[in-house]
Amino acid sequence: MANLGLLLGSIFLSIFILPCLSCPEYQKQALLQFKSSILASNSSFNSSTFGLESWNSSSSCCQWDQVTCSSPSNSTSRVVTGLYLSALYTMLPPRPQLPSTVLAPLFQIRSLMLLDISSNNIYGEISSGFANLSKLVHLDMMLNNFNDFIPPHFFHLRHLQYLDLTNNSLHGSLSPDVGSLQNLKVLKLDENFLSGKVPEEIGNLTKLQQLSLSSNQFSDGIPSSVLYLKELQTLDLSYNMLSMEIPIDIGNLPNISTLTLNDNQLTGGIPSSIQKLSKLETLHLENNLLTGEISSWLFDLKGLKNLYLGSNSLTWNNSVKIVPKCILSRLSLKSCGVAGEIPEWISTQKTLDFLDLSENELQGTFPQWLAEMDVGSIILSDNKLTGSLPPVLFQSLSLSVLALSRNNFSGELPKNIGDAGGLMILMLAENNFSGPIPQSISQIYRLLLLDLSSNRFSGKTFPIFDPEGFLAFIDFSSNEFSGEIPMSFSQETMILALGGNKFSGSLPSNLSSLSKLEHLDLHDNNLKGDLPESLFQISTLQVLSLRNNSLQGSIPETISNLSSVRILDVSNNNLIGEIPKGCGNLVGMIETPNLLSSVSDVFTFSIEFKDLIVNWKKSKQGLSSRHLDIYTLFDLSKNHLSGEIPASIGALKALKLLNVSYNKLSGKIPVSFGDLENVESLDLSHNQLSGSIPQTLVKLQQLSNLDVSNNQLTGRIPVGGQMSTMADPIYYANNSGLCGMQIRVPCPEDEPPPSGSLEHHTRDPWFLWEGVGIGYPVGFLLAIGIIFLTGYFTPPPTNSRHRRRQQRPIRRRI
Ligand SMILES: *[C@@H]1O[C@H](CO)[C@@H](O)[C@H](O)[C@H]1NC(C)=O
Ligand SMILES: *[C@@H]1O[C@H](CO)[C@@H](O)[C@H](O)[C@H]1NC(C)=O
Ligand SMILES: *[C@@H]1O[C@H](CO)[C@@H](O)[C@H](O)[C@H]1NC(C)=O
Ligand SMILES: *[C@@H]1O[C@H](CO)[C@@H](O)[C@H](O)[C@H]1NC(C)=O
Ligand SMILES: *[C@@H]1O[C@H](CO)[C@@H](O)[C@H](O)[C@H]1NC(C)=O
Ligand SMILES: *[C@@H]1O[C@H](CO)[C@@H](O)[C@H](O)[C@H]1NC(C)=O
Ligand SMILES: *[C@@H]1O[C@H](CO)[C@@H](O)[C@H](O)[C@H]1NC(C)=O
Ligand SMILES: *[C@@H]1O[C@H](CO)[C@@H](O)[C@H](O)[C@H]1NC(C)=O
Ligand SMILES: *[C@@H]1O[C@H](CO)[C@@H](O)[C@H](O)[C@H]1NC(C)=O
Ligand SMILES: *[C@@H]1O[C@H](CO)[C@@H](O)[C@H](O)[C@H]1NC(C)=O
Ligand SMILES: *[C@@H]1O[C@H](CO)[C@@H](O)[C@H](O)[C@H]1NC(C)=O
Ligand SMILES: *[C@@H]1O[C@H](CO)[C@@H](O)[C@H](O)[C@H]1NC(C)=O
Repeated sequence: MANLGLLLGSIFLSIFILPCLSCPEYQKQALLQFKSSILASNSSFNSSTFGLESWNSSSSCCQWDQVTCSSPSNSTSRVVTGLYLSALYTMLPPRPQLPSTVLAPLFQIRSLMLLDISSNNIYGEISSGFANLSKLVHLDMMLNNFNDFIPPHFFHLRHLQYLDLTNNSLHGSLSPDVGSLQNLKVLKLDENFLSGKVPEEIGNLTKLQQLSLSSNQFSDGIPSSVLYLKELQTLDLSYNMLSMEIPIDIGNLPNISTLTLNDNQLTGGIPSSIQKLSKLETLHLENNLLTGEISSWLFDLKGLKNLYLGSNSLTWNNSVKIVPKCILSRLSLKSCGVAGEIPEWISTQKTLDFLDLSENELQGTFPQWLAEMDVGSIILSDNKLTGSLPPVLFQSLSLSVLALSRNNFSGELPKNIGDAGGLMILMLAENNFSGPIPQSISQIYRLLLLDLSSNRFSGKTFPIFDPEGFLAFIDFSSNEFSGEIPMSFSQETMILALGGNKFSGSLPSNLSSLSKLEHLDLHDNNLKGDLPESLFQISTLQVLSLRNNSLQGSIPETISNLSSVRILDVSNNNLIGEIPKGCGNLVGMIETPNLLSSVSDVFTFSIEFKDLIVNWKKSKQGLSSRHLDIYTLFDLSKNHLSGEIPASIGALKALKLLNVSYNKLSGKIPVSFGDLENVESLDLSHNQLSGSIPQTLVKLQQLSNLDVSNNQLTGRIPVGGQMSTMADPIYYANNSGLCGMQIRVPCPEDEPPPSGSLEHHTRDPWFLWEGVGIGYPVGFLLAIGIIFLTGYFTPPPTNSRHRRRQQRPIRRRI
C-alpha cells in the first residue's frame, strides 16, 4: 500500500506544478457522458443524487472533484490519471442499483492509472472494456454487485498492482452453452452448473501486490497460478466457496504479509511452506475444513501478529511446549481441541488485544496473568473453566468484550466491575455465578449487551442504568431474581428478557417508555395484576411472552396496536373475558415477517440470545433468537377466556401456531380459520366449542397438528387436504358426537341400513367416504382408505417438514 501511495503520489504531484493546463477534450466529454449516463439510468435521479456537482463543461476536468490529472514525463499536456468515484450516492441506503453499462464512457480514458468505483451498487457484467484501460495500476471495484465471470480480457491489465473485487457476485466462468444467467440465486444453488474456479489467468497479473476476491461465489480449488504473483503482499480469498487444499507452495510468495482464506471449504493441512513467509503478519484460516495438527512453527514466525485458526477440524497437541517468537495482537484458536489450563505461553504476548479460545476443553480458573494483560476481547465460551473472576480483570480500560458463557464459573461478580469503562459486551450465560448484580455495572457507559442468563444470580435491587446509555440487549432470564420488575433501563433497550425468575408484583406501568423494545420476555415469574394499557402501546414489539404467571383481567381491544408482534404468548395466566376482535388486526401476524433485528448485525461475531420458551406444536420448545423469524405464534392457552372465538382471527395469515386450548371458549369454530394459510399447529382443545368442524379447514395445507379434543363438537370431521392426515383419535376425543374416517366413527348418514330394515338406502357404504372428493388426488385417498381399513391405531403419517421443525434450532455460539 505504502509503495503504491508513493508511486501515485509522485505522479499526481504534477497537478500543482502545471495548474493551468486543461485536460483533453475527449476525456472531458467522456466524463460528462459518464455523469449523464448515471443520471439517466433511473428517472428518479437528479443532479444532486451523486456528488458530481463540480463536473461541468465550463471548467477543465482536471479541476473537478474526484478527478486527478498528471503529465506523462516527456509531455506538457495533462491527462486524467485517477478517478476516485467511490460511494458516489449522496442519499442514504438503500440505494438503487446502477447498471454496469454506465461505465462505458470511462473506457475511453486510456490514461487512467487509478480507478475506484467501489460502494456504488453497480450490477451487471464486468465489461471487457476494462481491457482498454491498460495503464491501470489500482482498480477498486469492491462492494458492488458485479456478477457473472471476470472476462478474459480483464487479465490483460498487466500493470495492476491493486485489485479489489470484494463483495460482488462474481463466480468462475460458465461452460459456453449456459450463456449469461441473470438469476444468481439459481446459480448458487446449482454448483455443478458452473465451473466456479478463480480464473487461472489471474497469474498473468504479475505486478499484483494486493488482490482481494473476498465475498464472491468462487468455488473449486485456489488456482495454482497465484504462485506466479511474486509481488503479492495481500491475498484475500475469504468468504467464497473454495474447496480442496491450500496450494502446498503458497510459501513461495515471498512478500505475503496478509493471507486471508477464511470462510471457505478448504481441506487438508496448513501447508508447512507457510513458515517460509517471513513477512507474514496476518493469517486467516478460520471457518474452513482444515485438518491435522496445529504446528508449533506457526508461533516461530517472528512478524506474525494476527492468527486465526478457529472452527476447522484442526487439533492441538497439548503436550507440545510452545515458546513463541511472534508477538501476537489477535489470536483465535476456537474449537481447536486445546485442553488443560489456559496455555501460559499466551502471557508472553504482551500486545494481545483479541483472544478467542472458545469451544475447547479448557479447565482450571481464570488466570490472574490473563486478567492483568489488558486484552480487549476475551472469548472463552464453551469450556469447563471454574472459579470466580479476578477483580483485576475489570481494572482494564481496554476490555470491551468478555464472553464466558457455558463454563462453570461461580462466585459473585466483583464489585468493581464498573471500573471496566470500555466494556461493551458482557456474556456470562450458563455458568454458576451467584449473588447480586453489582451496582457499579451501571457506570459502564458503553455497555451494549448484558447476558447473565442461566446462572444463580439473585437479589431484589438492580443497578439503575442510565436512560441515555447504550444498553440495548439485556438477558437476565433463568436466575433467582426477585422483587418487582426492574424498569430503570436505557431508552435504547431492544431486548429485555427477564423470564424464569421470581419476579412478583404487577407489570410496570411505564413499559411503553422503552420505545425501541422489540422483545419482552417475562415468562415463568410470579407476576400478578392486570395487563397494563401501556404494554399495548409498544408498536415496535415483535416478541411478547408473559406465559406462566398469574396475570388477570381481560385482554384489551388495544392489543391491535401491537402492530409488529409476531410471537404473542400469554398462556397459563388467569386472564378472563373475551378474545378481543382487534386481534385480527395484528399486522405482524398477517404479513410475512421481516427479520428480527438481530444482535449479529451489530457485531462482527455472532451472538445467540437466550432461548425463548414457547409451546411449539405439542411440546415446550426453546426458540433461538436467530430463528425467531420462522415462527409466528399466538398462544392464549390455559386462561379463563370465554365467549366466542372472533372470526377476525382468520385474518392472521402468517400465523404458524394458534393455541387457545384450556379456556372456556364457546360457540363455533370460525369458518374463517380456513384462511390461516400458514398455520401448522391449531389447538382448540379443552373448551366448550360446539357445532361442527368447518369444512374450510381442508384448505390448510401446512397443518400438521390439530387438536379439538374435549369440546362439544359434533358432525363429520372434514376430509381432504391435510385434514385427511389428522387421524389421531386422541385429538378428537371427548366431544359430543364427532364422526368421520379419521376417528373410524361412521357418521349417521354413512351407516348401512340396519338389517331387516325396509327403508331403501341408496347411499354408498360408509367406508367409501362420499365427502372425500373435494379436490384431492384419488391415489392419496386410497392410501388413507387402506390405512384406515388395515390398522386402527397406526399413527398418522408424519411429513418430513414437520419432523424437521420439531428439532431444536441449531445454536450458534461465539
Ligand atoms: C430508481 O430509483 C428508485 C428509488 O430512487 C428505486 O425505487 C427504483 O427501483 C429504481 N429503478 C431502477 C430501474 O433501478
Ligand atoms: C433530487 O431528488 C431528491 C430525492 O431523491 C430530492 O430530495 C431533491 O430535492 C431533488 N433535488 C432537485 C434539485 O430536484
Ligand atoms: C463549474 O464548476 C466549477 C468548479 O469546478 C465552478 O467553479 C463553476 O462555478 C461551475 N460552473 C457552473 C456553470 O456551474
Ligand atoms: C516519450 O519519450 C519516449 C522516448 O524518450 C518515447 O519513446 C515516447 O513515445 C514518448 N512518449 C510520448 C507520449 O511522447
Ligand atoms: C476499446 O478500444 C478499442 C480500440 O482499441 C475500441 O474499438 C473499443 O471501442 C474500446 N472499447 C470501449 C468499451 O471503449
Ligand atoms: C497469460 O500469459 C500467458 C503467457 O504468459 C499467455 O499465453 C496468455 O495468453 C495470457 N493470458 C491472458 C488472458 O492474458
Ligand atoms: C456485501 O455487502 C453487503 C452490504 O454491506 C452485505 O449485506 C452483504 O452480506 C455482503 N455480501 C457478502 C457476500 O459478503
Ligand atoms: C518484495 O518487496 C520488496 C520490498 O518490500 C521489494 O524490493 C521486492 O521487489 C518485492 N518482490 C519480491 C519478489 O521480493
Ligand atoms: C505431541 O507432541 C509430543 C511432544 O512433541 C509428541 O511426543 C507426541 O507424539 C505428539 N502427539 C501427537 C498425537 O502427535
Ligand atoms: C462446577 O464446579 C463445582 C465446584 O465449583 C462442582 O461442584 C460442579 O460439579 C461443577 N459442575 C460441572 C457441571 O462441572
Ligand atoms: C454451583 O456451585 C455450587 C457450589 O457453589 C455447587 O454445589 C453446584 O453443584 C454448582 N452447580 C453446577 C451446575 O455446577
Ligand atoms: C419507570 O418508572 C420507575 C418508577 O416508577 C422509574 O424508576 C423508571 O426509571 C421508569 N422507567 C422508565 C424506562 O422510564
